[in-house]
Amino acid sequence: MLLSVLAPAKVNLYLQVLGKRADGYHELLTVFQAVDLCDVLHVTRGFAGLTISAPKFLPQGKDNLVYRAAYSFYEAAGYHPEVYIHLEKNIPVEAGLGGGSSDAAAVLYALNRLYDFVLSEERLSLIAANLGSDVPFFLHGGTAIGRGRGELIEQLPDLPTMWLRLVKPPFGLSTASVYRAWGSESTAQWLDFLQSLALGPAGYQLFNDLEAPAFTLRPELQAIKEQLYQDGAAASLLAGSGTTVFGLYTEKPTDQLVLPEGYRQWVVSTLTTACHRGKESEKVGRKVSTHKTR
Ligand code: C5P
Repeated sequence: MLLSVLAPAKVNLYLQVLGKRADGYHELLTVFQAVDLCDVLHVTRGFAGLTISAPKFLPQGKDNLVYRAAYSFYEAAGYHPEVYIHLEKNIPVEAGLGGGSSDAAAVLYALNRLYDFVLSEERLSLIAANLGSDVPFFLHGGTAIGRGRGELIEQLPDLPTMWLRLVKPPFGLSTASVYRAWGSESTAQWLDFLQSLALGPAGYQLFNDLEAPAFTLRPELQAIKEQLYQDGAAASLLAGSGTTVFGLYTEKPTDQLVLPEGYRQWVVSTLTTACHRGKESEKVGRKVSTHKTR
């Protein structure tokens, strides 16, 4: 049986680094928001073993997070692996959009569904947290507060739909390198951010402590942010640890930015938890609808 599911990207509307922990990770207070730039996972139960097909530019086999997610699922469920997973990749890598984490969560969700929800929500969340800090958020998507490494999730009510322009330069940054460059001081204003949510998208006080270190590592990112403001974005921010920079718009932008060679851009809307997995298909040959890239 085939189950095709969407794996949406995210941005962080707020990301405060509270400090470095003894385990090497950083303690966070963040707000995730799912957006409709999506990978698609085609998960077919009934093949012997565990086989992944992923684009060549991604780690293959056991080094791929999709493989590790499926392996963890079978281990926890106590079943022999019998699955073939094809990953259709649309979310850029090293972009701060959580693509790999979302793929892993989508595999956990799809396998659990194909096996009649053998694992509880709590078990799935624990497996997700072991795979990566952002993976638990992607089990439900929507808007959520992340604490701890980002893996402790508190779901928030859906925000009004917003439009985002995502701009991704041709270079990436590893999450670890941006955290290493973080300088321990923060100007974060959590209460101001929370209160600004009542003002509507045009008034949101977006914030990201990883922006300064990422801009130091790659000064070109600052120029993208300035261009997005010039374009009329209500707010602009680095996505996670970068290198995507997004602009927030109250109305859907209909044009394209003129960008340097190799830069890519998408116009996407925010996603609620209800539409996190999109339209699913359990029939071979039928495809789910995916966001068209521009
Ligand atoms: O959890 P994940 O594997 O996605 O994290 C990738 C890297 O990002 C970690 O190895 C760590 O260097 C850094 N990180 C961190 N603090 C976090 C999340 C990630 O330092 N809260």
